[in-house]
Amino acid sequence: MPREELIARVAGKQALVSMVTDAVDASVIAAGTDLKLIANVAVGYNNVDVAAAKARGIIVTNTPDVLTDATADFTLALILAVTRRLGEGERMVRRGAWPGWAFDQLLGMQLRGRQLGIVGYGRIGQAVAIRAEAFGMTVVHTGRPAPGARDSGLDRLLSTSDVVSLHVPLTPDTKHLIGQAQLARMKRSAYLINTTRGPVVDEAALAWALRQHLIAGAALDVYEREPEVHPDLLSLENVVLAPHLGSATTETRTAMADLAASNVIAVLGGHAPLTPVG
Ligand code: DGY
Repeated sequence: MPREELIARVAGKQALVSMVTDAVDASVIAAGTDLKLIANVAVGYNNVDVAAAKARGIIVTNTPDVLTDATADFTLALILAVTRRLGEGERMVRRGAWPGWAFDQLLGMQLRGRQLGIVGYGRIGQAVAIRAEAFGMTVVHTGRPAPGARDSGLDRLLSTSDVVSLHVPLTPDTKHLIGQAQLARMKRSAYLINTTRGPVVDEAALAWALRQHLIAGAALDVYEREPEVHPDLLSLENVVLAPHLGSATTETRTAMADLAASNVIAVLGGHAPLTPVG
């Protein structure tokens, strides 16, 4: 919904059901003079100004748990796609450039025995770990860095992992958590996976690192300025680019919608929200 329309239509409403693409900022919240609840249909809620909502006594809810499996499955899909060069191979077939089977064609990296570094070990990070272990990977992880603190666990994870997968929420502390310095710390043979929020990675720095072959590849489901993608990434073969599909299964999107609706029904019925944030 265009911003002006959202501001106009939120007036007089008791609940707002918002999507990740809706910027529910202080001016939208101020326009919702009767609002009791903002039910965001996503586990991430960086699109909602929670402090502004709280200051007006408005409850904010998200949709945790119901999307954990779908997002973890998709993370594995990206890990496999980039390490087995699926995008490159698919593009080659589609443009009619496949010369036929060859012994050393598009060789990738096997997962068994490799180390997966999980940055952010919450629900989704842990679900990714279970799946990666089933593929024979060893898993190391780091928690969320303390505000303003340098995380030495992250440095070690970056320099020793064969695949690094990001699962921290976007906050002021995690914006550009992965930039030039962190990418330079990674192994030249390593891969970066991002299924959380685009701004956790400095996209220009990532394009630079991929061009310089400082890392072997990346697979992204999220971008700094969606739906825009850094133009340099579009021309690189060693990056898989997905259009924010992490939770996109029929079952999961239905469960997310149901949970948001249940939060609205609970709060407007005078009950506690099921999944409040903040
Ligand atoms: C989330 O839940 O945060 C996803 O990015 C939206 O599908």
